[in-house]
Amino acid sequence: MSHVLYPSTNLAATEQLSIERGEGVYVYDNQGKRYLEGLAGLWCTALGYGNQELIEVTSEAMSKIAYTHLFGGKTHPVAVQLADKLADMVPTPDAKVLFGLSGSDANDSHVKILRYLSNVTGRPEKRKIIARQRAYHGVTVAAGGLTSTPANTAHFDAPLDALGIVHTDAPFYYRESLDGETEEQFVDRIVGNLEKLILEEGPETIAAMICEPVTGASGVIVPPAGYYEKVLAVLRKYDINFWADEVITGFGRTGNVFGCTTMGIDKPDQMTFAKMLSSAYFPISATVIKGEMYEKLVEPSSKVGMFGHGYTYSGHPVGCAVALKALEIYERDDVYGHAAQVGEYLQQRLREFEDHEIVGNVRGVGLIGAVEIVADKTTREPFDPSAAGYLQQTCQEHGLIGRALAGTTFAVCPPLIITREQIDELIDILKKGLDATAAKYASVRRAS
Ligand SMILES: Cc1ncc(COP(=O)(O)O)c(C=O)c1O
Repeated sequence: MSHVLYPSTNLAATEQLSIERGEGVYVYDNQGKRYLEGLAGLWCTALGYGNQELIEVTSEAMSKIAYTHLFGGKTHPVAVQLADKLADMVPTPDAKVLFGLSGSDANDSHVKILRYLSNVTGRPEKRKIIARQRAYHGVTVAAGGLTSTPANTAHFDAPLDALGIVHTDAPFYYRESLDGETEEQFVDRIVGNLEKLILEEGPETIAAMICEPVTGASGVIVPPAGYYEKVLAVLRKYDINFWADEVITGFGRTGNVFGCTTMGIDKPDQMTFAKMLSSAYFPISATVIKGEMYEKLVEPSSKVGMFGHGYTYSGHPVGCAVALKALEIYERDDVYGHAAQVGEYLQQRLREFEDHEIVGNVRGVGLIGAVEIVADKTTREPFDPSAAGYLQQTCQEHGLIGRALAGTTFAVCPPLIITREQIDELIDILKKGLDATAAKYASVRRAS
């Protein structure tokens, strides 16, 4: 056993697969076996592996200046260029950008900014945050409090009261709708619950609601049509910010540059980015706030002498250079258009599994998708989670890396550069995995 304490891993079953190198959409293990990286690492390697331009820009940036920072009035041109570029792109009005290193720290920065604002605007009570059930926003103390996936919250005692985090329904029609409820009725019911929650807590105590436009780690939940429009109407009514966590959906994943566009979310007040911002070639994240929020930070920070938040590596020159290059490549090579096109194909092919004997639900949009396997298609009775683990393992043996999550869901989220032929390969292997799982768990299904 090595001395690594493995993150997000069953510590009684570590070191299942050692990956050594990658090329295009494929990675290779220490035995030389090839796998289609169907989850783009952890939903992040948009341009796949071995992209020479990103490799070169990393080396050039490092040679120029391995490190400089943005504290205390210092700056550097690449951070300025990247922030200006992002501000031009995002739907958040007059955006300002705070750089970090991970989705979690970027979400923590939002929490701190909201608290700071509640104090300096003379509304110290307006700091609660609404998060949804079945949400994943990271694992640091504050972001971990916004996360509600059971495996990430068990035993950690997130200080929800201290952080002012309250929860509302997940927009998950397949699992959360009532018998006979239409999608529209479902949306009206859960948005009604949201409004009730706001009124019970007191609208004057709530600063923001955080949503992943489409969720990833909690099971690839795509809300029904009309959901966000109604959520936004409620939030605007009570002067509550909409905060879009685009850590997975940002930069082409859902068929548009931003998940907000795909889901019809107009002008989010706050946004979070990481992962595909640099195609994961260097850690970098971005906490984006609207100009109106930024303006309120300026004078109070001047009184104290500084806005006392930020990381040693906020705006790391190498990360900024890599992200700028990744954004340039996405636009120049129309990676967004390609992802939208092949994304439609992936969704069409995944839907073929709707008829599969153990598939209860197929979900997704663009290049993110999932199949949920069930012991009984009619009652939607879930399998024991070991079935999804078996499906993941079988796919892996056949050369596809995907991810079992949220009980019995198997997710795929390949690099944006994947081709139609490679999607066919992914689907062929997934079919083998589903067939093998159906055979192995046949007795469980008959018993149900
Ligand atoms: C929507 C979302 N937000 C935040 C995070 C946390 O990002 P990180 O793991 O970089 O801290 C993730 C990670 O998967 C995510 O999916």
